[in-house]
Amino acid sequence: MTAPIAPRIPFPDCHLPAGFSWGVATSAFQIEGAHRTDGRGDSIWDTFCTQPGVIADGSDGSVACDHYHRWQEDLDLIALLGVDTYRFSIAWPRVQPDGQGAWNEAGLQFYDRLIDGLIARGIRPFVTLNHWDLPAALQAQGGWANRSTVMHFVDYAKTMAARFGDRVPAIVTHNEPWVMAVLGHETGIFAPGIQDRKVACQVAHHLLLSHGLAVRALRAQGCQASLGIVLNLSPMHPASPLAADQARAQLEDGRLLRWYMDPLYRGSYPDDVLAVLGDDAPAVHAGDLEAICAPIDFLGVNYYTRGVAQASGPWDVHAGGLPLTDMGWEIYPQGLTELLVRLHHDYPVSAMLITENGGAFPDRITDGVVQDLDRTRYLADHIAAVGAAIAQGAPVTGYMVWSLLDNFEWASGYAKRFGIVHVDYTTQQRTLKASAHWYRQFLQHLRQRSAAADLRARG
Ligand code: FCB
Repeated sequence: MTAPIAPRIPFPDCHLPAGFSWGVATSAFQIEGAHRTDGRGDSIWDTFCTQPGVIADGSDGSVACDHYHRWQEDLDLIALLGVDTYRFSIAWPRVQPDGQGAWNEAGLQFYDRLIDGLIARGIRPFVTLNHWDLPAALQAQGGWANRSTVMHFVDYAKTMAARFGDRVPAIVTHNEPWVMAVLGHETGIFAPGIQDRKVACQVAHHLLLSHGLAVRALRAQGCQASLGIVLNLSPMHPASPLAADQARAQLEDGRLLRWYMDPLYRGSYPDDVLAVLGDDAPAVHAGDLEAICAPIDFLGVNYYTRGVAQASGPWDVHAGGLPLTDMGWEIYPQGLTELLVRLHHDYPVSAMLITENGGAFPDRITDGVVQDLDRTRYLADHIAAVGAAIAQGAPVTGYMVWSLLDNFEWASGYAKRFGIVHVDYTTQQRTLKASAHWYRQFLQHLRQRSAAADLRARG
């Protein structure tokens, strides 16, 4: 650890409910590496990365942050930050190489060690079952477009809950079904690289169905963990007050937000989106929607930016003329308040957590120091936006920074850095950036503030 850097960005002054949790997040494919170690099977991202031109820097996840071997050092870093929660994902092909059939004990033991290591450090493991890395063997049978993958996922979820459920307080079924469906199967810029809207709609339905059936199955087997799903959500604004832009924004809101929130919380797909999809609408069997709206304990919200829609062309994440992150995503913290308050008003959501929030910025490491004040400001402003939503009644119970480490940012490869900890990919050296020091000091400040309040309350 380098010398602490004085926080130059003021701490947000927010009033949070008791028990509010603070964390950092990662996902398996983006950090673990060791892709052929101890019996791991290939995932669709391993296969996708072999296609020329699909990853900006031609890289892959074979080594990534080598977290599979460096997990103890990484858990020590998490503990040093002073967070209480760590969100990570299990790589399905590491624990079940073909996505069905035999389990891989060596892979299961890796997650045993990780979970036990977190608990030993006083950190709560917050587990995602599917962060996009479907076993390639299942893709060979049609992947998420094939309804049989739904039952394979439910079996996988049941086995994970049976193995780890006594030690993990929270389980997420899927991370961002919109991304898997639309970016994976409609635009094809993510694995498995399919470009077919009808397939994408079926995939979205199967992801939701497998979520609902998994929740039902886990409850039936007595799983005590809280259960939820993580969605990537943004307010969708019209580019202008013109009626055509407004209508388009309404439809894109339907495809991004209501397509997921309506079935999860109301048991139906939105009519306006179904009408536009026409023949591309998914095949839905009797009982599917009842399964999808199985009650959940929390909604995970991943927030990065807002969307801006205009009558023609795709909606955009940089159309508002505001400062952008290194991804080209507009910095729009007030959108997070707007989104959380709207979710609270429109749906019976009992608890929401920010399961990802953060920014890629063009960091420079100089003499072992990364002065990422842009990222620090981004975090401070978004945490303040969460506080503002809570003040308006939104039941937000936690916040997690994306990401603990710089890592494999999917189609952007290693070129985009989201970590609050810098990773030198040649030496695998980790260095806390200024944002990590700031986050740590902010959490210390909150603890001191609540200890002082406790003292006062006791007179
Ligand atoms: C989200 C993903 C996460 C990361 C961030 C930047 O969509 O869930 O893995 O790539 O974006």
